[in-house]
Amino acid sequence: MREDLNVPLAKGAIADDSRIKAAIPTLEHLAERDARVIVMSHLGRPKGVDPALSLRPVAAALSKELGREVRFAEDCVGEVARRAVGGLRDGEVLLLENVRFHPEDEANDPEFASRLAALGEIFVNDAFAASHRAHASVVGVAKHLPAYAGELMVAELAALHQALDDPKRPLVAVVGGAKVSTKVGVLTHLLEKVDALLVGGAMANTFFRAQGYPTGAGLVEESALKDAMEVETEGGKKLVLPIDLVCARRMEAGQEVETVPANSVEPGWMALDIGPESVALFAKHIASAATIVWNGPMGVAEIPDFAKGTRAVGQAVAGSGAYSLVGGGDTVAAIDSLGLSGFSHVSTGGGATLEYLEGKELPGVAILKDA
Ligand code: 3PG
Repeated sequence: MREDLNVPLAKGAIADDSRIKAAIPTLEHLAERDARVIVMSHLGRPKGVDPALSLRPVAAALSKELGREVRFAEDCVGEVARRAVGGLRDGEVLLLENVRFHPEDEANDPEFASRLAALGEIFVNDAFAASHRAHASVVGVAKHLPAYAGELMVAELAALHQALDDPKRPLVAVVGGAKVSTKVGVLTHLLEKVDALLVGGAMANTFFRAQGYPTGAGLVEESALKDAMEVETEGGKKLVLPIDLVCARRMEAGQEVETVPANSVEPGWMALDIGPESVALFAKHIASAATIVWNGPMGVAEIPDFAKGTRAVGQAVAGSGAYSLVGGGDTVAAIDSLGLSGFSHVSTGGGATLEYLEGKELPGVAILKDA
């Protein structure tokens, strides 16, 4: 089984266990039915073996969450792995060491994939969040074994499908974050689908610069001005930008803060959040929606002075009664730190969710369809 147990670590400890919790239903389902469950995952981006990125602590956390012992093997292939698998009894769970300790995983090396596959009889991919990676443990193994989607994978795909491919209308997308360049694919794909696209976060600066507004000391991506102009032309009335901005001279807590119209940022000041009039405008669109997709914070959500826009938009989304899908690493971190809840689906995917929102086919999903 492939899970995405790529949890954030802080000083060696698991900083957020959402991905561990999300893996439980399929693990439980299989173990309760007496399967011998062999779990593969990556953790971080090691170059070769790196003890700081061992999955051993994750095995302990998984045991606790699952309420049954999760054994651990110090390698994902070879004699160590084979012996650990050989010692499993029905209903027992084994976590293999980080697959990325072998560069062959990311290279999708066919020989490595067949060594992984030789450990089991059936492949279950539950790692939606890693399924944009055409790696051996995601894609390669599925070429050797009967392959199925796990419950998390199914839930993620069903939510994305409901929100984007078969939405109740109006469909409203809220997109934020720092850069147009990383989201231009998402913005253009969403524009084809949505009834309104609300854009906040520092990326709005690049749109404002493209319109000729002053942006002060704010982050502007000069290299993405053309993209921003194209999105504006394509978006027409569907594209909704902030109308007022919360500005400070520095991106730090405790700074003097002023709220100005979006076309009046002063020299030396930078926009760090959307203002109350923008919140009201966005909330009006959100209240009219039957389906909402939210990706990206509206400002610097990790600094309380600049988190109000993200909080208010999040509350509007959660309280709208619409089907709401929240995705992307920064957005999920923001809703967690702001204590926001009540969304229909919070995706475990970062990059994978973004690629889906861009309309790309995820190799880990495509191979399951083939299989
Ligand atoms: C993620 O955290 O987005 C996934 O686990 C994929 O990790 P990666 O970007 O290192 O491939």
